[in-house]
Amino acid sequence: MLDPSADEIRDWGNSVIQLISDYLRSLRDLGVYRHMFSRGIRNRLDAALPTKGTDFDGLLKVFREDIIPFSRQNAHPRMFGYVQSPGTPLAAFADLLASILNANLTVWRSAPAPVELERLTIDWIRQILGFNAKAGGLFVSGGSMANLAAIAAARQTKDDSSGRLRIYASRETHFSVAKAAALLGIGRNNVCHVAVDERFKIRVDDLVAKITADLEEGYVPFCVVANAGTVNTGAVDPLAEIREIADRFQLWMHVDGSYGAFAVLAESARKLFGGIERADSIALDPHKWLYLPVDVGCVIYREPEIARSAYGHEAEYTRIIGEEADEAFAFWDYGPELSRRFRALKVWMLLKGVGLDFLSDAIESNLACARHFESMVRASDDFEMVAPVELSIFCFRHVPVQLRNESPQAIDAFNERLLIALQRDGSSYLSNATLGGRFALRGCVLNYRTTLRDMEILLDDLRRVARSLPTLASPRNDSRRSRS
Ligand SMILES: Cc1ncc(COP(=O)(O)O)c(C=O)c1O
Repeated sequence: MLDPSADEIRDWGNSVIQLISDYLRSLRDLGVYRHMFSRGIRNRLDAALPTKGTDFDGLLKVFREDIIPFSRQNAHPRMFGYVQSPGTPLAAFADLLASILNANLTVWRSAPAPVELERLTIDWIRQILGFNAKAGGLFVSGGSMANLAAIAAARQTKDDSSGRLRIYASRETHFSVAKAAALLGIGRNNVCHVAVDERFKIRVDDLVAKITADLEEGYVPFCVVANAGTVNTGAVDPLAEIREIADRFQLWMHVDGSYGAFAVLAESARKLFGGIERADSIALDPHKWLYLPVDVGCVIYREPEIARSAYGHEAEYTRIIGEEADEAFAFWDYGPELSRRFRALKVWMLLKGVGLDFLSDAIESNLACARHFESMVRASDDFEMVAPVELSIFCFRHVPVQLRNESPQAIDAFNERLLIALQRDGSSYLSNATLGGRFALRGCVLNYRTTLRDMEILLDDLRRVARSLPTLASPRNDSRRSRS
């Protein structure tokens, strides 16, 4: 099994390819999700510590029968929960090839061509964003790690011996920023939550007021985090204005573009991102809106040398001997990881294989789906939007006529039950957000397979599932249920 023959490899490969094509062909017929319990799944898995091996068909059978059906189908066109990419076969093959080569992208000499491919691909992303030619970065596991990497670099710009460093970010900012502050010893409490306006964008007047007040109290403001697509509603903060404020107070400007920044590729959204190229750093997630399978995040620094001062570390066992310039390049000087898988291969295969024109159209189509949903909700008398659609996230609630005079708490409780029932129903999948203290249903279109028709089916699914809830079920339905 460890070193199969060429024939065995071909047989295994054929079986895997057959499984992949069957799975993707039947995707629309599979539910996005099925209700399941931990014990039920555990009981299906042979828990005995394996002392003897199992043949490949046996392993694949477990994957086919016990893993696939008991997974959430993230590639399904009506998987709208969280910020979930569908993956794509092209990138799955790239992951397979990367594992076969098993390149370890620590330094240039360890993986010359893979390192060059990562540098090239990072440079393409730099160009997509419009950063200057000096900017550079690397791939990391995801957006959380990219935020951490960037904030570690930002910290180099101020003397942190006082223990009074402060970061500013809107209240809508992803929790990975506070987590990064905690991990870096800055402290969660030193992330100042700035108020947002009615579109959930950072209020720059509050940002200035908070920085000014902190300076008066002897804190050391060092970084402002701007959102290029918040996780809750997709709001893009006013990036150019934040740049001016960062300059005025000599702060590092980091952009969290993990969800939204690749929407710069879509003509209809581009203007939202004006000024992004002047950030000091940016976190992006190709495993979100470039549709790639997890894990691949990305951090770009406008001045990579500052990151180097945060990460550069000379140890005798990593010292690069006898190399110069380009060949002495080490990724460990720019990020937290040492051993790194060949993530660039799937990004490169996607960009090169699919091309930017197609990706721009796919992102544009996701935006159109979210806008279509918003217009259907606004035209309806039983749903209401809770936030405006900025990118491809839509937040809303169901207020059927029977509930119109109920309290906000009752309507929230109803929507919470509706969400759980929808997820268990399996035809469409949403997640939730809390906005202005109220419960909201939340969806995010991040799949090139999703169509306008899917958005209509989602609305139909919600109405159908809502009718089966005790609050709305007709007496006839109730009596039927109590008999069964
Ligand atoms: C805006 C934002 N930032 C950061 C993250 C964290 O990204 P990851 O899950 O890749 O660590 C997310 C995840 O959804 C996000 O939406």
